[in-house]
Amino acid sequence: MDKIEVTFTVNEKKVTVKTAPDKPLLDVLREDLLLTGTKQGCRTGECGACTVLLDSKTVNSCLVFAGQMEGREVVTIEGIANGDKLHPLQEALIEEGAVQCGFCIPGIIISAKDLLDKNAEPDEKEIKEALAGNLCRCTGYSKIVKAVQSSAEKIRESADN
Ligand code: FES
Ligand code: FES
Repeated sequence: MDKIEVTFTVNEKKVTVKTAPDKPLLDVLREDLLLTGTKQGCRTGECGACTVLLDSKTVNSCLVFAGQMEGREVVTIEGIANGDKLHPLQEALIEEGAVQCGFCIPGIIISAKDLLDKNAEPDEKEIKEALAGNLCRCTGYSKIVKAVQSSAEKIRESADN
């Protein structure tokens, strides 16, 4: 298949890549843009390891193709911290000891950020629903859910101050 040129925004930076139109966004991010924080798991939309924000919605980047990307906006795990300052979600996951192998964590952070951007005070059920597409084989989720709750509290407190 002939290559095409696609221009889109990744973590607020405009990028242009020359690529086959049927190359998954996951591979464009990891191979062409060297953004390897987005993880490759199943490649079939089941595990959520490859979750990114596309036009402010969570998607499995293994199921989006380069040919669909012109003019769109992507946020990956590399775009979540503010310079050297970790996002409250990242801090909370560390504080709660919620990370084991870490493979699922970039996708979980993206899904949890999407939730907290839309719902500042999610209950346990809402957090579990938001993370239902992100499989973690290590942790049993309870510390992850607790970390999302405590980061939501921190974000609310800093908004109040
Ligand atoms: S690698 Fe995309 S959902 Fe598993
Ligand atoms: S921490 Fe290992 S898969 Fe989630």
